[in-house]
Amino acid sequence: MAYVYKVYLLPTADTTLIPFFAGKFASLRLSALTVSAPAFSSTFEIESAFTASDWIAHLQRPSVHYIIAVAYASYTKPEQQKIDTGDWIGSATLIGPFTKEAYELPESDGPEVRGDDVETRWQMTAVFNTPLHRGRGIAKMLINGALEFAAAESGNGRESRTRIIIHPRNIVVKKLYEGLGFVDAGKCTLAEAYRSNGDAALLPLDGGASDPEKYLARFGTVMEKVNSPAR
Ligand SMILES: CC(C)(COP(=O)(O)OP(=O)(O)OC[C@H]1O[C@@H](n2cnc3c(N)ncnc32)[C@H](O)[C@@H]1OP(=O)(O)O)[C@@H](O)C(=O)NCCC(=O)NCCS
Repeated sequence: MAYVYKVYLLPTADTTLIPFFAGKFASLRLSALTVSAPAFSSTFEIESAFTASDWIAHLQRPSVHYIIAVAYASYTKPEQQKIDTGDWIGSATLIGPFTKEAYELPESDGPEVRGDDVETRWQMTAVFNTPLHRGRGIAKMLINGALEFAAAESGNGRESRTRIIIHPRNIVVKKLYEGLGFVDAGKCTLAEAYRSNGDAALLPLDGGASDPEKYLARFGTVMEKVNSPAR
């Protein structure tokens, strides 16, 4: 079957449709946590216990933005291609903007982090595309959608800086980001990755001190891209 693909910023303030969106998002996310478990820090065990209202609250967290990829049958009329039709097949989460202090990681090796007058700062996480639709440019569309949103939100002629943290063994993903202009920006710990990705709740109460090899060793690959101001 032939498909048409589109990406959207999820309108989380839409009070009428948010329960429907939450159901669709939950289904996509639980599928991601099943088929690509090693790529994510959260787990199916944790998120399959979320209730309907948990999912709605999750989507409406402040400063968290979702880019959703939707597949339509190729004969779907353009006016019928909307976020509440079609099949949700992929997503990327963008968190921000961060203050300079909240954003900076110790031992970062990326482009120098600058002041609020010059740039805005964002963290991208949970990039996923359903296996059936892989290799068709969907991840590129999701990531570019997130970068465009960050650039548009920056205003005032500011640059937008976007960071991603990946598992060092995820070579496919590293190539994907390199192809989109991301550069190496050092290594981070799992504890830092959890905090930056909005998953601090997954950390043990001691911040990981009881298992330093797991939480405090610098093994995550950090990549960044600084985009010019939107015109
Ligand atoms: C990684 C993932 C998002 C890629 O999705 P996708 O829609 O297939 O990616 P795209 O078709 O947009 O591919 C973009 C680029 O990624 C690279 N790439 C993607 N899949 C690849 C593969 N299986 N082998 C080699 N390179 C690959 C290529 O460089 C490709 O560029 P090209 O088309 O110019 O060759 C998808 O495989 C996935 O969901 N994986 C599991 C979750 C995951 O690892 N997420 C990343 C967390 S940081």
